[in-house]
Amino acid sequence: MGKYQDFYRHSIENPEAFWAEQAKLVDWHHPFGKVLDYGHPPFAKWFVGGQTNLCHNAVDRHLATRPDQKALVYISTETGQEATYTYRELHAEINRFAAVLRAQGVEKGDRVIVYMPMIPEAIFAMLACARLGAVHSVVFGGFASASLATRIDDARPKLMVTADAGMRGGKTIPYKHLVDEALRLSQHPPQKVVIVNRGLDKGMPLIHGRDLDYASLRAQHMDAQIDPVWLESSEPSYILYTSGTTGKPKGVQRDTGGYAVALAASMRHIYTGKAGETMFTSSDIGWVVGHSYIVYGPLINGMTTIVYEGLPIRPDPAIWWKIVQDNKVNVMFTSPTAIRVLKKQPAEYLHQHDVSSLRSLYLAGEPLDEPTARWIADALKVNIIDNYWQTETGWPILSSVPEVEDLPRKFGSPSFPVYGFNLKLLHESTGQEVGVSEKGVLVVEPPLPPGCLSTVWGDDKRFVNTYFSNFNQLVYSTFDWATRDKDGYYFILGRTDDVINVAGHRLGTREIEEAVSAHPNIAEVAVVGVQDDIKGQAVMAFAVVKDASRTSSAEGLAQMEKEVMATVDKELGAIARPAKVHFVTALPKTRSGKLLRRSMQALAEGRDPGDLTTLDDPTSLEQIRNAIALWKNA
Ligand code: PRX
Repeated sequence: MGKYQDFYRHSIENPEAFWAEQAKLVDWHHPFGKVLDYGHPPFAKWFVGGQTNLCHNAVDRHLATRPDQKALVYISTETGQEATYTYRELHAEINRFAAVLRAQGVEKGDRVIVYMPMIPEAIFAMLACARLGAVHSVVFGGFASASLATRIDDARPKLMVTADAGMRGGKTIPYKHLVDEALRLSQHPPQKVVIVNRGLDKGMPLIHGRDLDYASLRAQHMDAQIDPVWLESSEPSYILYTSGTTGKPKGVQRDTGGYAVALAASMRHIYTGKAGETMFTSSDIGWVVGHSYIVYGPLINGMTTIVYEGLPIRPDPAIWWKIVQDNKVNVMFTSPTAIRVLKKQPAEYLHQHDVSSLRSLYLAGEPLDEPTARWIADALKVNIIDNYWQTETGWPILSSVPEVEDLPRKFGSPSFPVYGFNLKLLHESTGQEVGVSEKGVLVVEPPLPPGCLSTVWGDDKRFVNTYFSNFNQLVYSTFDWATRDKDGYYFILGRTDDVINVAGHRLGTREIEEAVSAHPNIAEVAVVGVQDDIKGQAVMAFAVVKDASRTSSAEGLAQMEKEVMATVDKELGAIARPAKVHFVTALPKTRSGKLLRRSMQALAEGRDPGDLTTLDDPTSLEQIRNAIALWKNA
């Protein structure tokens, strides 16, 4: 039997022995008594009784061996700023930030919302929370005030951390202004807002007594030494909101010990990073990839992590390869969309820099199409490793595991089940396992391995109902369709639910529909994800207006479309803005009133709309067909 097969089988057949071994990769303040408590399925508690701290593991424990090694390299091509922090300096900054938070009353278990651009202080804030045992909830800066407010009301933070502004493509994004608006909208606003003032928004208004300037507070705590607060392994480290079928985002709750072990193990076995090496992950701290592989993973592993604020094509499309060259990056992680964007650029940009330090490029977040994978493999001559996972799992479900055995990879496939994940492909209605190359829903036989969500924040019922109640057996549904070929390689075919994936960003169609409906002239709307050559999917909306006179002329239509787009920008954020809004007088629904999103999506992609026997009003689908034909011919 192959080496990886042995390793995998051991993880499934003897999970406690397997994970006890992996747990040696992190420091425990107090050893765990039991590896797994699965007495209350599907809730799994890993490393019961063990006490640890993520910040200690990410920073403090490296002080003895690598105090002067770079821990964090910050590069902003938006502001031109660059900065480097050694482990010793990072430790000092985190202590200062923790002291500031503690002085404002932040204690173990308190929530802190971090709404920040990609600046070092965002990472100091996250690690300072971890140090104090406070629960951070980072909200992606691309989300607008109303979505921020929803998350504030769910997490009920004691405090928020933000910056005056961020920048994207040279355009200023007024974070603090968006926070003000969110706090006006929320039912449970925090008492204090700590602001890192970058001097980008000169006119930023401050609310006396609520808004605090980080630089002044930091100055009072320059020599602060805050001991890490030891958490029991299952105590929460963070909440990260993610989209699903309903309009209300779910707070994915992460534990402490299980996450530390899962990340440390993944850094070794999957990402093959070594202490002292450099990792460049081009995500954002607002996404799970940022949490796991910009912040915690590389630091727990004693690596240098690159924090990049900017686009892959500015100042020119060679910027990432320059970063690789200048920092001798060994391991890189990005999204297929970013590679497709680079593929559109002149080839010369790929060959201006020496990228020989790079061993592997990891891609995740959305399907990696074969031409893109081949193109970048040929261009960089490094391993291209497609890895499949979710906010919920925190680390890969499917991937090749090259440190254990570097098995051949097939383009288009994220390879095999990762150790710890007992995967099955089930028939959507019978719940029976499907055969070779047959399409099924990818599920995980519980208990979920360490590092995966422990529950939905504040809502255990929703955790069970959402993820474990889709079949006639207790299994975790990934909500992804997949197949497995005769050699055991998996292929992901897309979501089974109403989640769409735009440029690797996970969005809920319901959320976008609610945002569109905030426009006073919208009576009804359906949103679908439509295949897009660069972004994987693009958002398309079909809307019915209340006052049809507003859309009776070409100008009226254009104006209305503009207004709908602006409404989505304001309600949810520009990342969710529809690429196109079609206006119709009726939406295709079943007789029981269910929107036929799949049929609309099929028509928009030029496919057969499928079984329409339950369609209530056939003219509604004709309208969609015509709208798409008109738009394609325009
Ligand atoms: O549909 C799958 C897709 O992205 C979803 C999870 O998105 P998110 O929670 O944002 O987490 C991203 C973590 C990398 C999945 O349910 N997805 C993720 N990776 C892949 C993928 N689809 C195909 N191939 C992948 N490698």
